[in-house]
Amino acid sequence: MIKVNSTIVDYKKLNTKALIVGVFESQPSSEFKTLNELTEGEIFEEFKDKEFNGEFKKISLFHSKKNPKRILFIGLGKRKEFNKEQARECAGHAVNYLNKINIKSFTIELFNGLKPYDSAYAINEGIQLSQYLFSYYKTINLKKIKHFTEFEIKGLKNNQKDIDKAIKHSNVVINSVCITRDLQNEPSSAKNPDQFVKIIKDSIKGTKLKCKILSLKDIKKLGMNLILAVNKGSAYPAKFAILEHKGKGKETIVLVGKGITFDSGGIQIKPERGLEEMKYDMSGAAVILGTLRAASLLNLPINIVGLMPLTDNMPSGSAYKPGDIFKSYSGKTVEILHTDAEGRLILADALTYAKKYKPSLVIDLATLTGACVVALGNEYAGMFSNNNNLQHELAKAGENTYERLWPMPLVKEYKTELKSTFADIKNLGERGQAGAITAALFLEEFVDYPWAHLDIAGTAFIAKDKPYKPKGGTGFGVRLLIDFLENRKN
Ligand code: BES
Ligand code: MN
Ligand code: ZN
Repeated sequence: MIKVNSTIVDYKKLNTKALIVGVFESQPSSEFKTLNELTEGEIFEEFKDKEFNGEFKKISLFHSKKNPKRILFIGLGKRKEFNKEQARECAGHAVNYLNKINIKSFTIELFNGLKPYDSAYAINEGIQLSQYLFSYYKTINLKKIKHFTEFEIKGLKNNQKDIDKAIKHSNVVINSVCITRDLQNEPSSAKNPDQFVKIIKDSIKGTKLKCKILSLKDIKKLGMNLILAVNKGSAYPAKFAILEHKGKGKETIVLVGKGITFDSGGIQIKPERGLEEMKYDMSGAAVILGTLRAASLLNLPINIVGLMPLTDNMPSGSAYKPGDIFKSYSGKTVEILHTDAEGRLILADALTYAKKYKPSLVIDLATLTGACVVALGNEYAGMFSNNNNLQHELAKAGENTYERLWPMPLVKEYKTELKSTFADIKNLGERGQAGAITAALFLEEFVDYPWAHLDIAGTAFIAKDKPYKPKGGTGFGVRLLIDFLENRKN
């Protein structure tokens, strides 16, 4: 874990290997008066020749004979365009540079242009999330992985309290995001439902969360036959994990996450290419775990329940088949037209289970459809909702955290596509048409409360590095949900 502190001492007294300073584009060098005095005019020279002009994410490393010995200038771009996301990116980028030259500890000055709390918060997110590394399975070349273990954020006397508050809060969220990322990146062979449950229990140590696990026997007894259907081809019994956070007040919010620990497609098996990525089909559940953990450690004043149906989707002699019909937990019968449309099945039973809590609203997160990836790529998740307020609040949280959501329609005309010849409904819409929407419409059949469905198939896992998101699991959803939940408390 990285240690973060605040400091308000003068430049001269900084005891640090390097100081990071953000600079806006075309910022007059007069603003560097103090630094200039410190370095006896050296910095002025640096800026005079316009080698460095504060362009977004441009870096200039300055060596001084005085303290601090190294000053890394990071371009913040145009002051008017600067926001929290740019702050995250710049902080992460600057630190990646320091890491490359093997600096073990540093100080970063608060970026101007944001409230001190927001600036410190974004800086901490950008720095720590950019350094995330899933290296548990690496036994060679470990020496090459350089890492600093502490840094400090420098502010002024009148904002140190804000900085400390931001550090404390963001540390909880960041650690929870990393737990979620770890779980996404974990190979499927290490996260079958039993192992997943153990990881949940380990991850919530030190919180006040209540954890209940429904065994395969419980799932059978309750009649969650859609979860059982998907689990039929598996060598591992399904589990249904429940986390409960007790806040104040009567309102209960239920969060549901798809927990397919590997999605082979079942009998209608997926093509061989890229199949290794289907280990992240449990991202929804991992996000629920991260969110509940953070909510508990932050003592959020609302009741929150997390539901995680867990199973893999495998072909075998006992696997469910196209044409099979199952009675869902809700009582509706479902005809299977595609064994690869398994996520909506386990979610349907979980969404029905959610009713037991008389929720004021329910949000589900799921890597549900390839169609959503085609529509929105990996920057926006698809958002479907039967409630305008909820949709609006979620979109706002999305902008705040830059885990952005795009509203998608629940087109009632397409409901007819879910009609089944032999059962109440089928689990597949018209092939090649609005696949993300028909999946959401299927889920809608099982809800009778304010509800939002977030299709995170594109945003949960990335193949190439992004700023403060190394390739692999992104943890997309944890920061979003915490922001959403916090803004609901009033
Ligand atoms: N887990 C997949 C969706 C997915 C695709 C997630 C790509 C992440 C990246 C889901 O279970 C699935 O297979 N969906 C099918 C549905 C189809 C059979 C109706 C799909 O999207 O092709
Ligand atoms: Mn599937
Ligand atoms: Zn799936």
